[in-house]
Amino acid sequence: MKILVTGATGQVGTDLVQVLAGITPRAGVATALLGMDPVAPGEFDVMACGRVDLDITTTTAIEAVIESGRPDVVVNLAAYTKVDLAEDEPDLAYAVNEGGVATVARACERYGARLLHISTDYVFSGELGRPLCESDVPDPQSVYGASKFAGERHVHDGAVVRSSWIVGLGGRTVIDVAMAAAAEGRTLQFVADQVGTLTASADLAAGLVAFVREPLSGVIHLAGSGEASWYEIIATALEMAGGSRDQVSPIATRELQPAQRAKRPAYSPLISERLGDRRLPAWQDGLERLIKAKQAS
Ligand SMILES: NC(=O)c1ccc[n+]([C@@H]2O[C@H](COP(=O)([O-])OP(=O)(O)OC[C@H]3O[C@@H](n4cnc5c(N)ncnc54)[C@H](OP(=O)(O)O)[C@@H]3O)[C@@H](O)[C@H]2O)c1
Repeated sequence: MKILVTGATGQVGTDLVQVLAGITPRAGVATALLGMDPVAPGEFDVMACGRVDLDITTTTAIEAVIESGRPDVVVNLAAYTKVDLAEDEPDLAYAVNEGGVATVARACERYGARLLHISTDYVFSGELGRPLCESDVPDPQSVYGASKFAGERHVHDGAVVRSSWIVGLGGRTVIDVAMAAAAEGRTLQFVADQVGTLTASADLAAGLVAFVREPLSGVIHLAGSGEASWYEIIATALEMAGGSRDQVSPIATRELQPAQRAKRPAYSPLISERLGDRRLPAWQDGLERLIKAKQAS
């Protein structure tokens, strides 16, 4: 099966390209809960494109790559993901997260490729006060969330996989901040009034492979199991990294200095009413594997 991955150099893309090649990412993957068979050597023929290879805002480039490569499935991970900066760069955020998705979706329809597009819990306001499933109505509160929701609406034939609070080995994430604080004995403050679900990038990548194999359509929620505030996540990360939970104290979002430019959902754990018993592992499990992998590198 031929797969085109856009945004392949990003956090999820790096893990997905490895999983599709039958390589286990260093943070490990939990496939058992998804009922997934391991990837067989040669099962997937992967075209992995970063932004320099394929900019999804360039219609001619998208058309050319899909027409010549003829992928069976396109996994669109390419996105403008700078949540706060998007408030100042709405045109750019929409150009990628809506316009780019529309272009990819049209090319997929024209050349018969199935589209698997990735979206976010930030399409929700988070004001319902309960975990959110696929039939809940989005009500984004930020430019990033609104641009991602606008993009979702261009996916007519394929699937939209919404995930949340993704952390992986690449880049400097809040988990790296916690690990450095644990090593240096420093204290931190994190918000206790934003609650969601942490998702290990490698686990999400494994889930995406399951959906590459299986032609699901419509919206699917796939995030780590359970829920926690950022404060609770960082307290757990500190402990797992050899520090103490007492190194972090809880604050309210309104106390953040500087204030966050974009409004985040206060309560946005994602659950699925479509996947039944199939799920990703508890967020603590993915976090522990990630911290061990980071410590070993
Ligand atoms: N991170 C999260 O917490 C989170 C949560 C829920 C959903 N998601 C969604 O999950 C997907 C993957 O996220 P991620 O965490 O892997 O993000 P990421 O690390 O920021 O990766 C995004 C990728 O998209 C590329 N990109 C940006 N603009 C592009 C363009 N115009 N054309 C082609 N590629 C472009 C980036 O390339 P450059 O690096 O060169 O810019 C990068 O390779 C995104 O759809 C995101 O919205 C993320």
